[in-house]
Amino acid sequence: MGLQGNPAVFDTDALLRPGVRAFLGERHRLLIDGVFVDAASGATFESFDPATGRKIADVAHAGAEDVDRAVRAAARALEGSWARLLPAEREAVLRRFAALVEGHADDLAQIEALDSGKPASQIKAVDIALGVGALSYNAGWVTKIEGRTLPVSVPDMHVYTRREPVGVVAAIVPWNFPLCQACFKLAPALAAGCTVVLKPAEQTPLSALYLGRLALEAGLPPGVLNVLPGFGATTGQALISHPGVAKIAFTGSERTGKHIARSAADSLKHVSLELGGKNPNVIFADADVEAAAAVAAIAIFFYSGQVCAAGSRLMVERPIYDRVVETVIAEAGKLKLGHGLSGDTFMGPLVSAQQLQRVSGFVSRAAESGVRVAQAGTAPQGALAGGFFHAPTVLVDADDTAEVTREEIFGPVLVVQPFDTLGELKARANATSFGLSAGVWTRDVKKAHATAAALQAGTVWINTYGQFDATAPWGGFKQSGYGRDNGAESLEKYLQTKTVWTALA
Ligand code: NAI
Ligand code: MG
Repeated sequence: MGLQGNPAVFDTDALLRPGVRAFLGERHRLLIDGVFVDAASGATFESFDPATGRKIADVAHAGAEDVDRAVRAAARALEGSWARLLPAEREAVLRRFAALVEGHADDLAQIEALDSGKPASQIKAVDIALGVGALSYNAGWVTKIEGRTLPVSVPDMHVYTRREPVGVVAAIVPWNFPLCQACFKLAPALAAGCTVVLKPAEQTPLSALYLGRLALEAGLPPGVLNVLPGFGATTGQALISHPGVAKIAFTGSERTGKHIARSAADSLKHVSLELGGKNPNVIFADADVEAAAAVAAIAIFFYSGQVCAAGSRLMVERPIYDRVVETVIAEAGKLKLGHGLSGDTFMGPLVSAQQLQRVSGFVSRAAESGVRVAQAGTAPQGALAGGFFHAPTVLVDADDTAEVTREEIFGPVLVVQPFDTLGELKARANATSFGLSAGVWTRDVKKAHATAAALQAGTVWINTYGQFDATAPWGGFKQSGYGRDNGAESLEKYLQTKTVWTALA
């Protein structure tokens, strides 16, 4: 029994797979140059299970000295062991890595569920599948990175290009898709011949360490992938200011993304940024309204809305507006909130007390300013009373200038608004600084593609939402960032061109 008559806190131990229990019992150390080591300073930080608020692990906290060692190790591997492998050998290593991640999917899913609060079943089906997809897809590229011979108009010259790795990559990832985001960055980086220092988010360091272990088992030479858990202001800051880093691949907040771009300017590091969005999901009156409304609920409440692609702004043509609002609220009410290790959980908690406070703040300010708040269901109590849960919430009729309509809330909070004409819809949907993704629901094929063309977004889904694939470039327009994850376009960002001139006469 818990204290003061509270029921016992949710028992995760009984649900853990033996491999996960063993992993959690070990020391969680930095991976530098092929070896797991403590931080030079000996510092550690705590990682929590956000569904219970309980500490699950002490994790080594990388400082500037560790960052320096990791970057140097990565630089040596870049010129040495990784460069010396033949393309077919590098491909084989990446394929083994992909197979190992897939083979350990159940353990990884539980580790990530505990650390992040997300449902393990969804992590396995979405995050790990996408991570393995990125590794496999990019493994295929290793033997297909080709230069060209150039038809220059200078006599007696043979000119060709080589595609070379940009150098050591700092991959800095957030807590919402820890393993999957890590793979989106390190897979093309490694395929391009780069080496990587990966910094997972302080809220979710564990799956990256497990990934590091699998990388060694797959035969990645020491230093090719280094993993440095720690905080943004310490580990992250040391990494982005290190002169040995050639490229920073980042996913996270707009604020940190802009800070990275500014600081990278001094040394002209390559930068790619994926910075979230306020994504309009648009339902026209001629759509399959029931299907659209059901998917609209999933589009926002999946992973408790902690998704850069979340369909957080639902825009509905007026004749079907009331029906859609009702259906979305009813669908939201059916979603089971719970611990990520329970098989029947659809929605877990927010990742931290801080995120819960942030999201609740948006909702209470909206309520105070007169926005109608429809809350579906309640946060779980009893054994999960200490968790950072937020009930699915629908904000009806907020106007375009409202904070909740403009800003990325990053929680299970949907803004629903009516619109009357296509022209009005385009203008309003585009009047935001973000441009990550959008949804369009209509049976009219002309309207569908005209709307897709008109929306300022890096990805548009028509009559579906939230689809991802290793071949499909993912990233933002406007202040949602630049550069792309996935697809051949992402690989390009880890390569640079060398032009070689040879006199033939
Ligand atoms: P954040 O952008 O600060 O954190 C993301 C990553 O950046 C973490 O690994 C963090 O340690 C690192 N970082 C932070 N400061 C850094 C620095 N100075 N140098 C190098 N690395 C640094 O995001 P945070 O504070 O965790 O979340 C705040 C809000 O950001 C969320 O509520 C959400 O709106 C947005 N966000 C968007 C994400 C997306 O997928 N686009 C992911 C996470 C957060
Ligand atoms: Mg955690």
